[in-house]
Amino acid sequence: MQNFYITTPIYYVNDKPHIGHAYTSIVADTMARFHRMLGKNVYFLTGTDEHGQKVASTAHKNNMSPQEFADLNSDKFRHMSNAFKLTNDDFIRTTEVRHKNAAQSFWDKLMDNGFIYMSSYSGWYSVRDEAFYQESELVNGIAPTGAPVEWVEEPSYFFALSKFEQKLLEFYENNPDFIWPKSRKNEVINFVKSGLKDLSISRTTFDWGVKVPNDEKHVMYVWLDALTNYISALGYPNLNAEKIHAFWPACVHLVGKDILRFHAVYWPAFLMAADLPLPVQVVAHGWWTNEGQKISKSLGNVIDPYELADFYGLDQMRYFMLREVPFGQDGNYSKLSATRRVNSELANNIGNLTQRTLSMVHKNLGGIVPNKYEGHEIHRQIAEITQEYFELFENHLFHEAIECIVNIGNLANSYIDEMAPWKLKKENPQMMETVLYHLLDAIKVIAVLLQPITPASSHKIINMLGIETDNIDFNLLTYNLISGSNLPENYIVFNKIAEEGLSE
Ligand code: MSP
Repeated sequence: MQNFYITTPIYYVNDKPHIGHAYTSIVADTMARFHRMLGKNVYFLTGTDEHGQKVASTAHKNNMSPQEFADLNSDKFRHMSNAFKLTNDDFIRTTEVRHKNAAQSFWDKLMDNGFIYMSSYSGWYSVRDEAFYQESELVNGIAPTGAPVEWVEEPSYFFALSKFEQKLLEFYENNPDFIWPKSRKNEVINFVKSGLKDLSISRTTFDWGVKVPNDEKHVMYVWLDALTNYISALGYPNLNAEKIHAFWPACVHLVGKDILRFHAVYWPAFLMAADLPLPVQVVAHGWWTNEGQKISKSLGNVIDPYELADFYGLDQMRYFMLREVPFGQDGNYSKLSATRRVNSELANNIGNLTQRTLSMVHKNLGGIVPNKYEGHEIHRQIAEITQEYFELFENHLFHEAIECIVNIGNLANSYIDEMAPWKLKKENPQMMETVLYHLLDAIKVIAVLLQPITPASSHKIINMLGIETDNIDFNLLTYNLISGSNLPENYIVFNKIAEEGLSE
């Protein structure tokens, strides 16, 4: 069986989860589900990033120890995973012993291989970004991300990043799909081409971090510590550990565009330095804005993912997030656009198709799956669209893959209007059965293709078609509904949401 390892970034515990975190996790969960449905052995990892100056100072402001504060907020992320029914196989915390040991062993390996040296750092640091900036990168005295910076001068260990400039460029050249999307790949390549400076990888002015082996005055730079989570969760440094063996290198590191550089430049360089294979792909998504505005605490427009899930329903929220934005680009959340999406595509198109078809089967055939007396053009058309869905999904074009599903819904709805099965009941009952059979089959295909995106609703639809299985995979696409079997008398999915009062 093919193995597939996918990760989310680990979330900083200086805050509770917001829409951005929920988005990253939901996209990763959708990809994990998709690959499971293809029959792969999937390992899906998420967790929390708990060290560093940002967490330490927020804990301090809240009159808590960093550990207490990290415990409190890490739980909130774990809760999000459970509440949103994410299918992660593990949840790693960087304060766990297994992780700290792995990070220290990783450090030792970089040291033994001659890529770490002692010197002193003086330069700009942004606590908010947990990143070092060069003078030339600052814009009017602040980081290019808009974050404040402070001057730091302290003894520090360095990682010889400059030694990897050529190797990284060769790697990007030989692995053209390593960075997705292509537009961001060029940004990364230009950054590397502009020259890599050695990276400061330890701090001495605070102590909330993984201790540097044999030099306890230093804690590791939080990004070196954090990135290691992807292998510590698999059992590093034991390279014979079952999970490392099966799942490293990762197939996809899913990240937001803001942290692409850490994953596409620093992480591969660290891995090369530690003689470990490199991940197959780093996939970067865009950012959400709220009603057109950047989301920030100071603007008070942070979106609570629990409120969205309560208001729209969990599946509907997932659908909106994946459908609304061309994946990789920034997206805007507005109550009106989310409501319209859910109403027009889930309730009107797919929900109505299901309801119309099943009520006809109940009314005209006593709820029994009809015979398919002949093939129909619609079957071929759906197979073609399904093929397209797979290609788009594999290329992370989720919004277009979902559009394929909507197109199948449109096709089936027009087929009903065109064939008018209610008229056929008297004129040609066999044809009516054939038409209803093809419609039930179209609904099955829609439910299966939607499964990675709207798992609970898809499952419900599959059950409505009389298929009793908890294991919905893509083999169901070619499964023939059993003529003569009884269908349950329940066919409501995707309720409509009131649009009144929502502004343009
Ligand atoms: N701790 C680091 C990641 C370390 S991975 C080895 C971190 N954490 S974070 O909590 O700040 O961000 C986690 C993810 O949330 C990132 O992928 C980021 O892009 C995403 N988002 C945060 N705000 C966002 C939006 N407004 N919209 C979409 N995603 C955004 O970075």
